Amino acid sequence: MEKTFLMVKPDGVQRNLIGEIVSRFEKKGYQLVGAKLMNVSRELAEKHYAEHKERPFFGELVDFITSGPVFAMVWQGNNVISTARAMMGKTNPVDAAAGTIRGDFATSVGMNIIHGSDSPESAEREIGLWFSADEVLSFEKTIQRWI
Ligand code: PPS
Repeated sequence: MEKTFLMVKPDGVQRNLIGEIVSRFEKKGYQLVGAKLMNVSRELAEKHYAEHKERPFFGELVDFITSGPVFAMVWQGNNVISTARAMMGKTNPVDAAAGTIRGDFATSVGMNIIHGSDSPESAEREIGLWFSADEVLSFEKTIQRWI
């Protein structure tokens, strides 16, 4: 089953949006298989955003993600990587459709509430960076499968 890494960024945590965001993915039918509220070291932030190292906003991005707790998650389900990106909305909230997380809650391209892996390769890399193997669970639901 496909897995993705999602993170409520410091702005989302401080605006009390963890529950709202978790609820959207739960209602969609996805399964939360790992989660933790954590402070981010500069080392982890720089590794996570390594592909953007040469971009002018890299320092700002690392400063922001290390500025307060984030809520890191692993979600599982059919096409969860691309579907989660669609549910998040475009990176720049100006372009994010109403009904998406960024479209509904964000106003700034830097402080845009949520991060989600953009490909299977990124998902594998990011899950491995943020979670140890024993923090990602594997379990069968014992209730009837509705979705
Ligand atoms: S994407 O989705 O990867 O194509 O988006 P991209 O435009 O490449 O942006 C990558 C991440 O950088 C953040 N970003 C910024 N932060 C601060 N200032 C500026 N100007 C800025 N522009 C982009 C953006 O929110 C993306 O963060 P993540 O966590 O990957 O969504």
